[in-house]
Amino acid sequence: MNISFLKRTLSRKNLMAITGLFLCFFLVIHFLGNLQLLLPADQAADSFNHYSKLLSGNIFIKAVSYILYLSIIAHAIDALVITIKNKKSAGKYAFDNRKKVSKWYSRNMGILGTVLLIFLVIHFKDFWYVYKFGGLPLDEHGNKDLYTIVINAFSSWWYVALYVFSMLALGYHLLHGFKSAVRTLGLYHPRYARYVEVFGVAYSYAITIGFSVIPIFVHLTHFGL
Ligand code: HEM
Repeated sequence: MNISFLKRTLSRKNLMAITGLFLCFFLVIHFLGNLQLLLPADQAADSFNHYSKLLSGNIFIKAVSYILYLSIIAHAIDALVITIKNKKSAGKYAFDNRKKVSKWYSRNMGILGTVLLIFLVIHFKDFWYVYKFGGLPLDEHGNKDLYTIVINAFSSWWYVALYVFSMLALGYHLLHGFKSAVRTLGLYHPRYARYVEVFGVAYSYAITIGFSVIPIFVHLTHFGL
């Protein structure tokens, strides 16, 4: 392995870590916004549609959204390049102990990431695209009625199951990804490594359970069992 290859890989890993942590931050904000879907139906509709309008009309949030889209693309491309490079070097070592010392999800970040990418394509098509370009009906306050679109999307169990399955993939992706990103960027003193690890696990569980509860709750409260 020559030095320039090592440098390129490290800076790719840095970029992946930075974009990954930014996406972790986005997930918290997105989750907090989605909590409005758990309000009683009449309040939830007004609140969620108003909030969506605020987000789409604010120039600062628009700028952050473009950084978000670029981060998703950069994260996915970097992951692909690093996975291909790793695959090429696999088998070159006489002694390979990875299966014993690492968790299955750490070795399958590429597969988990691919599931998430497919989830995001469906997610963008059903919500983001419909909101921006779908000519939505307006609610009684003149805001686009995204709330009804989201609620109706979760009317079928298979769609709820698709979300819960994707959130499980997200959870495992985060379990490895958060720790790995913090380590790549060297953001902690070894003395605090244990705290970072515990925070990463708690964060991954909270995001997975939180995002899974929303479609299940919406289905049960609006459409019953
Ligand atoms: C309960 C689960 C979820 C619901 C109900 C939900 C709902 C929505 C809705 C309604 C939008 C379009 C309106 C908007 O731009 O704010 C949206 C956008 C988006 N969602 Fe989700 N979401 C969920 C989970 C997720 C997850 C797990 C991810 C990432 C893995 C994600 C990533 C995104 C992204 C990147 C956007 C575009 C944001 C932007 O344009 O700035 N969502 N989501």
